[in-house]
Amino acid sequence: MNKISIIGAGMTGSTTAHWLAERELADLVLVDVVEGMPQGKGLDMLEAMPIIGRDVEIVGSNDYAATKGSDIIIITAGLPRKPGMSRDDLLSANAEIVGKAATETLKYSPDAVYVVLTNPLDTMAYLTMKMTKLPRERVIGQAGVLDSARMRAFVALETGVSIENIQCYVLGGHGDEMVPLTKISNIAGVSLRDYLPADRLEAIVNRTRKGGGEIVNLLKTGSAFYAPSAACAQMAEAILKDKHLIVPCAAHMQGEYGLNDMFFGVPVMLGRKGIEKIVEYKLDADEKAAFDKSAASVKETHEALKKLVKI
Ligand code: NAI
Ligand code: 2OP
Repeated sequence: MNKISIIGAGMTGSTTAHWLAERELADLVLVDVVEGMPQGKGLDMLEAMPIIGRDVEIVGSNDYAATKGSDIIIITAGLPRKPGMSRDDLLSANAEIVGKAATETLKYSPDAVYVVLTNPLDTMAYLTMKMTKLPRERVIGQAGVLDSARMRAFVALETGVSIENIQCYVLGGHGDEMVPLTKISNIAGVSLRDYLPADRLEAIVNRTRKGGGEIVNLLKTGSAFYAPSAACAQMAEAILKDKHLIVPCAAHMQGEYGLNDMFFGVPVMLGRKGIEKIVEYKLDADEKAAFDKSAASVKETHEALKKLVKI
């Protein structure tokens, strides 16, 4: 059986375990600093397995040793946003937590592929790669699957068409400058630009960009967790099943799209080795301008990180 360890057993971590257990993909380990909490959640979930008929072992621990031999490490440890906060406001607190999670887990699972969720996402993925010194194939940030799913959901609400017919692609950094691509996003092959009136499409783009904040403002005590964790589960499945699935994820740029040494949301092909390929879309002038603006914002957060941590 494959093994997936999830660091941070809070809302996104435990819900990721839930989605993964449903898929019977791997044995699961939940690690958190809070004593008893990951053990309690792990045991509770394990006791649900006979009911849903899944042979999955789930354990919780406060000790990284429990993660030994993992195929995938999913990092969700860290603080979530509160209303009024941007993802970047989490930088210094979460850099310390993610840095430790990355280096400690690597000791026990030198061959794992890392999926990072903690915010500010692009910069935490960058930190994970720098701290572990892993090749870029093995460190992937989750943002684009979620942001694209939000856009798909909003298009479905607007049009009444099945979400199965709706494909959307949101690239760029995981912040309010993200880049929903309206030309190639489509309903059964018809570009959203042709399917929807311009004002309705613009409203969907804006709602997508602010999708995380919309949930934070409703919840007041934390941020989204069902959709983000479903996204992590889809990525883990694509990796373990070697699916060669193309989805937008944050990846280390090494010249693609004219960007270098930064994490950024682009379409990647996911398989057993992690990132197998980065797909380069032809962007039109407006898209390229939005892309560059988002890249500048992510770069700024990377630079702020470099002032905090020696990497
Ligand atoms: P949460 O507060 O429910 O859970 C975080 C957990 O991390 C807590 O249980 C906490 O005890 C644990 N933790 C703190 N320090 C730790 C350490 N050193 N080692 C292990 N565990 C530690 O927060 P939630 O909602 O699960 O969000 C987690 C992170 O994911 C936040 O930074 C949030 O902004 C981010 N996020 C990112 C998304 C994305 O699309 N990239 C989407 C949703 C959340
Ligand atoms: C989101 O987009 C908080 O980044 C998280 O929901």
